[in-house]
Amino acid sequence: EMDCTLAMIKPDAVAAGKASEIQQLAEMHGFLIIAKRQLQLTTRLAEDFYAEHKGKAFFNGLVEFMTSGPIVALVLSKAGAIRAWRELMGPTNVFDARLKAPKSLRALYGSDGTRNATHGSDYPQSAAREIKFYFPNLQLASAAEDA
Ligand code: CMP
Repeated sequence: EMDCTLAMIKPDAVAAGKASEIQQLAEMHGFLIIAKRQLQLTTRLAEDFYAEHKGKAFFNGLVEFMTSGPIVALVLSKAGAIRAWRELMGPTNVFDARLKAPKSLRALYGSDGTRNATHGSDYPQSAAREIKFYFPNLQLASAAEDA
C-alpha cells in the first residue's frame, strides 16, 4: 500500500542550505517525492496551517519562525508514509531527538523546540488536509478509487 504524507523543510533548514540533503535522505529511505513547492508562508497561511495549535504558548513563536524565510513543502509517498516519515524526523523536540534518535532529521538539522527543521503529518486526515493546503490541484489515486 502506497501512502502519502505532507512534509515541510522548515525555514531553519532551508536557510542553512540543507533542503537538498534532506530530500536526498528521504529518497535514500525509500520515499518518493510526488510533489514539491518552495514558498514563503504569510502570517495568515502559517496560522491556518497550524490552526490546531492556536492558543498554545508556543503558537506565536511558531508562526514567527515559520514565516521567517522560505520553506519547502513535499508530498512524500512510501508504504506507511506517515509513520515512516515521523520516524525519520525523530521527536518534535530537538533536545529529545538528540538524546533518543541522534541520527534523526531533527537531531541532525534542528536547533531547539520550535526550530526543528522538518514537519510531517500526524494522521491520515491531517495528511489529506495538509497535502490539499499546499497542493490543492494534486490528484492522488486511493486504493478505493483504483478498485
Ligand atoms: P511540528 O511538527 O511542525 O508541529 C507543531 C510545531 O510547533 C512543532 O513542529 C514545533 O516546530 C513547534 N513547537 C514549539 N514548541 C512546541 C511544543 N511545546 N510542543 C509541540 N510543538 C512545539
